[in-house]
Amino acid sequence: MKLRPLGATHLHASVVGLGTWVLGGGAVWGHDPNDAESVRAVHAALDAGINLIDTAPAYGWGRSEEVVGKAIRGRRDEVILATKCGLWTEDDRGSFFTEMDGRILRRSLRPDTITLEIERSLQRLGVEYIDLYQTHWPSVPPDFTRIEDTIACLLALRDAGKIRALGVCNVSVDELHENLRHAGDALVSNQFRYSMLHRDAESDILPLCAHIHLATLTYMSLEQGLLTGRIGMDRVFQPSEFRSNEAWNPWLTLPNRRRVLDLLASWADLTQRYECTLAQLVIAWTVAQPGVTHALIGGRTVSQVLENAKGGGLTLSAEDLSRMRRDVLALGAPATQPQPA
Ligand SMILES: NC(=O)c1ccc[n+]([C@@H]2O[C@H](COP(=O)([O-])OP(=O)(O)OC[C@H]3O[C@@H](n4cnc5c(N)ncnc54)[C@H](OP(=O)(O)O)[C@@H]3O)[C@@H](O)[C@H]2O)c1
Repeated sequence: MKLRPLGATHLHASVVGLGTWVLGGGAVWGHDPNDAESVRAVHAALDAGINLIDTAPAYGWGRSEEVVGKAIRGRRDEVILATKCGLWTEDDRGSFFTEMDGRILRRSLRPDTITLEIERSLQRLGVEYIDLYQTHWPSVPPDFTRIEDTIACLLALRDAGKIRALGVCNVSVDELHENLRHAGDALVSNQFRYSMLHRDAESDILPLCAHIHLATLTYMSLEQGLLTGRIGMDRVFQPSEFRSNEAWNPWLTLPNRRRVLDLLASWADLTQRYECTLAQLVIAWTVAQPGVTHALIGGRTVSQVLENAKGGGLTLSAEDLSRMRRDVLALGAPATQPQPA
């Protein structure tokens, strides 16, 4: 497993981080996870050299944090623990974000909700401090909190020893600059969506983060499993599942899925040459992209996690990296579904 600095910290985090949204389960994932297997999966990740674990209170309404907490008991020192604040469900503070599993989720980066969130996360995780505390989504009106007020709260938490470093997620370039202006060196990472099929970040966020040596934590880099080649044409997602959300997952709609599966099939010579799986090939490509320092890869079983971890040790030749980029560029954009008349 390759390690890279986590921004300006003294920490070196594995290029493949374990994403634990799926361990929270719920209708959004379409299956109820087996917590004992989840704990085994986290242990397998640590044993395979993954030391970066990303979770959030919103993943299964605390379940993901609880399972991670159970898994790292006795192994705290092996983990760079990343969690988040800013998605609030307990009352009507914050601004409406979305409904998930029948619950209203609000965006809130208010100091009074963050102060409650951190205590709950520490308790669920069973730890005294969080290594990387990230704002999950930027604050928006009507209940808008100024970035400087959120950062002041986070810096106070750092001074109190509850968190070690700050990170942001899903920010625009302007929001990133504003966060940096107030947080300075305390802000070490930026987390956002990035995969070979979803490369928006390449136009602005990735080069900026590379320029200022901010760690980048990419998410959905396997397109929620599609890029493993194991979501066949016959796999059906229920309407409640996030993977059936066409706005977020246009490549999973059947005509687009066919195109991606054909592309993946055309890389059989590569998986043969590197003696790897498609998931490993895609992960190796992702973490080799300029500006990408770490990829958070979701996994819910020991075998998925072990397979994905190996992708973090694989080095592809410059020629093969370029060929894969040419192939994804040739794929073009996903076709949109015809709208009902
Ligand atoms: N900050 C944010 O707003 C945000 C948003 C999204 C995600 N994230 C973070 O990023 C992490 C990664 O994103 P993600 O989990 O949504 O997507 P992902 O990593 O692209 O996909 C994960 C899913 O792909 C399938 N999978 C993974 N490895 C596999 C393998 N080797 N073989 C077959 N299937 C495999 C599993 O689903 P099945 O087994 O169910 O098919 C797994 O749950 C999250 O867990 C979370 O920590 C952050």
